[in-house]
Amino acid sequence: MTEPALVNSDRRHGSSPWDAQEEEFDYRVEEVHGAIPASLRGVLYRIGPGRLKVGELRFGHIFDGDGMISRFEFSDDGVSFRNRYVRTKHFAMASSTWIGRGIGTQRLGGFLGNVFRMPSNVSNTNIVSHANGLFSLWEGGRPYRIDPETLETRGTETFDGTLKHMGAFSAHPKIDVATGEMFNFGLEMFPRPMLRTFCRDAHGRMKVLAPVKLSRPVLCHDFALTEHYLVFLIDPIVFSRPITAALGLDSMDHCLSFEEKQGTRVVLVPRDGGKPRVVDTEALFHFHNANAWEENGDVVVEFVAHPTSQAWDPFNEALRDYENNVAAAFGGRMERLRITGNRVTHEHLADVECEFPQLDQRFATRAHPTTYVAASSLPGGEPDSLVSLDHATGRQDMFTVAAGNTICEPLFAPDPETDGGGWLLSVEHLADEARSRLLVLDAEHLADGPIASAELTNHIPMGFHGTFVPAAS
Ligand SMILES: [Fe+2]
Repeated sequence: MTEPALVNSDRRHGSSPWDAQEEEFDYRVEEVHGAIPASLRGVLYRIGPGRLKVGELRFGHIFDGDGMISRFEFSDDGVSFRNRYVRTKHFAMASSTWIGRGIGTQRLGGFLGNVFRMPSNVSNTNIVSHANGLFSLWEGGRPYRIDPETLETRGTETFDGTLKHMGAFSAHPKIDVATGEMFNFGLEMFPRPMLRTFCRDAHGRMKVLAPVKLSRPVLCHDFALTEHYLVFLIDPIVFSRPITAALGLDSMDHCLSFEEKQGTRVVLVPRDGGKPRVVDTEALFHFHNANAWEENGDVVVEFVAHPTSQAWDPFNEALRDYENNVAAAFGGRMERLRITGNRVTHEHLADVECEFPQLDQRFATRAHPTTYVAASSLPGGEPDSLVSLDHATGRQDMFTVAAGNTICEPLFAPDPETDGGGWLLSVEHLADEARSRLLVLDAEHLADGPIASAELTNHIPMGFHGTFVPAAS
C-alpha cells in the first residue's frame, strides 16, 4: 500500500528534472567516467517535452510541452551528444504571448480561444526507427520524419496517404524483429470512436488492418504484439464530457473520468486481417505494456498497473503539478493478464513501484526473460532507481542514484558479442549541478552501478521514451 506524503522531491534541492532546455547543442562528451564497452556501438535517441514554459506562459500538463530529441552516438571516437526540437507548427508559433491548446492546457481567450480547438501536435512522446526512417511520435496526430544524423525535421508523415484526417498514429508502435514489420494504431474520435490499426512492412509499405470499434471515446495509450495478434487492453478512462471539451469550456484532461464499473475490454486483432476477438475483465488503470506472447493457445500480456483507487483524477492532477511532484506516475506495479478462451486471469509480478517497462527487444512477441523499469526506492517517490526482474527466478536487482537526483526510462542495448547480454542506458538528472549524464549499466548486474557515464555539460528534461539503434542496423 502506498504511504502518502513521503516523496523524494522533498529531498530535491537545486534544479528540477522538468526544467526547460531552450538551447540546442552539438558536442563530443569530454568527461567520460569508466569505460564505454568496445561493442556498445550505435545511437540512443530520447524524446520528451523540452520546454514546459514559453516566456511566462506555462503548459498546464506534462503531456503538452514541445518535443525535443536527444541523440547520443557511441562510436570509436567516444560519445557525442546532439539535441534538437522537433520543428512542429506549434514550436514555430509558440511565443511569450501564445501557446496552443493541449491535453491539459487551454489557450488564452477563454471560450473563444478554445472552442473547437484540438490539442496541438507537439510530437513529444516517442521516437521510432523503422525501414530506414526515424519518426517522432505523438498519439493524437501525424508522425514527423526526422533526419537520423542531424535531427533536422523533414515534415509530417502520412505513409503514402494512409494516415488521413487528424492522422493519429500512436506513440507506442511495436516491431516484430522476426518479420521486420511495425504495427501500430491510431485513436479516432469523430464521426465515431474507433482504433484504426496498421502494419508497415520491412520495406515501408503500409497496410490497414481491422478497426476496433469503441462504444465511447476512451484514452488508449499503448498496445502489445504477439505472433498472431495486436493486443489492446482498453481501460475505462472515458471522455465523459466530450461536448464540454469540444466547446473549449474545460481542458481535455478534465473531461476524462475513470468509470470502473465498465471494466477493461481486451481486444485481440489478428495480424492477418481477421475479425477481432473481445473479452471483458475487471477494470485496470494502466498506460504501458511491456510485452505479450502466445503460450499453449493462451495470450499473455505484461504491463504496469496503477491503483484503481488513484485513477484518473489524482493521477492526472499530479501530472499537472509537474514542477513539484510527478511521483504518482511511477506508482505502478508489474502485472500480467492471461487470456484463455473467454476467461481472463490476473497475475501480480512484483511490488516495486515503477513505470516505463522495457526488455531486450529481441524477445518482443515472445516470453522475455527479464523486465527493466524506472522505479522509486521510496514509497510514493519520484523515479530514482532502475530495477530488473528476472522472471525465471523472481530475483530483483536495483540501482539507485544519489538522493535528490532522478532517472528516466531504461533502454536495453544488446551486446552483439554475447548471447542475450547487453546494457541498460538511462539518463540521470543531477539536481545540484543542473545537468544530466548518460548512464551505462551491465543489464545483468544493476546493483553494481554504472560501468560508464558520459557527463553532459547541459541539462536534458526527464522526457518520456526513446529507442536504441545498434550500429550494425
Ligand atoms: Fe508512453
